[in-house]
Amino acid sequence: MASSSDVNLHTLSLSLGRRLAKRAGPGHLPKLAIVLGSGFQSLSERIDRRWAIPYSELPGLHRSRVPGHAGEWICGELEGLPLWVLSGRCHYYEGHDLDAVTFPIRVLAAAGTTTLVLTNAAGGIRKGFQPGDFMRLTDHINGMGANPLRGPWPSGDPPFQDLTQTYDPGLGRLLDRAARASRVRCHRGVYMGVSGPSYETPAEIRAFRTLGADAVGMSTVPEAIVARSLGLRVAAISCITNCAASVSGRPLSHAEVLAQGRSVAQRAQRLLVRFLKSV
Ligand code: HPA
Repeated sequence: MASSSDVNLHTLSLSLGRRLAKRAGPGHLPKLAIVLGSGFQSLSERIDRRWAIPYSELPGLHRSRVPGHAGEWICGELEGLPLWVLSGRCHYYEGHDLDAVTFPIRVLAAAGTTTLVLTNAAGGIRKGFQPGDFMRLTDHINGMGANPLRGPWPSGDPPFQDLTQTYDPGLGRLLDRAARASRVRCHRGVYMGVSGPSYETPAEIRAFRTLGADAVGMSTVPEAIVARSLGLRVAAISCITNCAASVSGRPLSHAEVLAQGRSVAQRAQRLLVRFLKSV
């Protein structure tokens, strides 16, 4: 049996999604959405805004308190292509539960989104990954210790979601093509999602490498799982902002992550603009 707060969150995502879709209007209703994480925020400079709403004015959405994350829901166009841009996200490590972390994805689905692009900053685990490279996700490992589909469920049925192909191969090929055309180094690899907020220990990074992870970060996995459960096609891209713990021998800092994120801004924009226009 679902608790009243789960049902309320579900109802709220439906009503908010419908409200936003109505405001966008049928002629401009985006089917494509992108969530901008650290390293990718500058894409919003390339968006012709029709309107934007701070998360603080949207019930159920939370602004991240972490530097480097804006908090705006943008209805815009990229060279004529309508899209939703979610500039900034809240994280599990900030104390939000996964229902709150994935609420914007439910709203996007209710607003008519069919294709979702998730972006994030990540630490590079695989040898040869350099800060400033990109990686498109071919798969993930959920190391968060929690699953966003955990019940109780509004429908009453457990969503045993198939995740054989979480990240759409067709979108992946378009990303590869966009990376080549924009001369941006974009690897393919497996993303290890962790809860944070501490960075990993060297032993954890060795373990994650053995498990098959190529990069590690603190977001994206719950959003991708919920998006798949709602039938969305998903693509995800990491900006490798640093070498993961012990890979470079230097201590990690959020300042380094932010600085690298700023320095890749132009390349991130080039990659995303080409990719999004090809979707
Ligand atoms: N670990 C986890 N999350 C991250 C990292 C990292 O090294 N870099 C950016 N986000």
